Amino acid sequence: MTQQPGFYSKVAEKFGGYSSGAQRTTSYPQGDPEEEFDALVHELGTPTGRLLDVGCADGRNLLSVAPSFGRVEALDLSPEMLASAEHHRAESGLDHVRFAVGDASATGFPDGAFDLVTSRRGPLFPDEFRRVLRTGGSVVYLGIGERDVRTLKEAFGRGQLYGRWTGTPVALEERRRLEDAGFTVDYEREFSYDEFFHTPGDLDRFLQMVPIFEDYDSESDREAFDRYVGQATTQEGIHLARHWFVLRARLTAEG
Ligand SMILES: C[S@@+](CC[C@H](N)C(=O)[O-])C[C@H]1O[C@@H](n2cnc3c(N)ncnc32)[C@H](O)[C@@H]1O
Repeated sequence: MTQQPGFYSKVAEKFGGYSSGAQRTTSYPQGDPEEEFDALVHELGTPTGRLLDVGCADGRNLLSVAPSFGRVEALDLSPEMLASAEHHRAESGLDHVRFAVGDASATGFPDGAFDLVTSRRGPLFPDEFRRVLRTGGSVVYLGIGERDVRTLKEAFGRGQLYGRWTGTPVALEERRRLEDAGFTVDYEREFSYDEFFHTPGDLDRFLQMVPIFEDYDSESDREAFDRYVGQATTQEGIHLARHWFVLRARLTAEG
């Protein structure tokens, strides 16, 4: 998934990290994909385990799983996000975690340097991940599915993955990319879930933080925004239908 350069840096400058504070209630009829992701990552942790996380943003999610590993490196393209990550790291006291500006497609780490590479709604570069993993190492990836916020994007007539609800599912496409690079995908699960934003202001803050519409503007998008709020308002709040997926892939000796 590509982002305009600087999109996340602007978000970090505006919100001080990767959280807008938008109030919402979430319902997970098929389970919480982030909890599932964390569980898979913890399962692969060991006291000497070496973890690389790419697209770490403000690092808060990574810091919650970092205690399961002996050494943790984290990369992001946005220096502003990393400043926030370093702040959270210092607060956590986790000295074995290092944040650095870096491109996940060319990390600069030596071959076989890691036991696990994670990307939580971040970039997926299977060839580079294979290079930096030891044989037997794994990738755990949390991705955005093609049905994510579909009706919102339809109300706006644009957005990330717009129109992708037909055609090859994103999870299958990413699975094939991992397999083509020599990985064996041994876990794959899709999650549809529901978010209910408490007020239009909460949805507006959320849309300023995520790259669903990288050019989102509260003023010029007012008409489409109001149209969506009109059609999606329920007793529980303004509904947003989410669709994420989790993949785990292993680098086997034969792979
Ligand atoms: C949706 S955010 C990820 C959020 C974060 N993983 C979390 O758990 O909160 C995507 C992040 O990936 C970063 N990113 C995008 N392309 C990248 C690349 N090629 N290398 C490193 N980071 C990248 C962006 O700067 C952004 O901070």
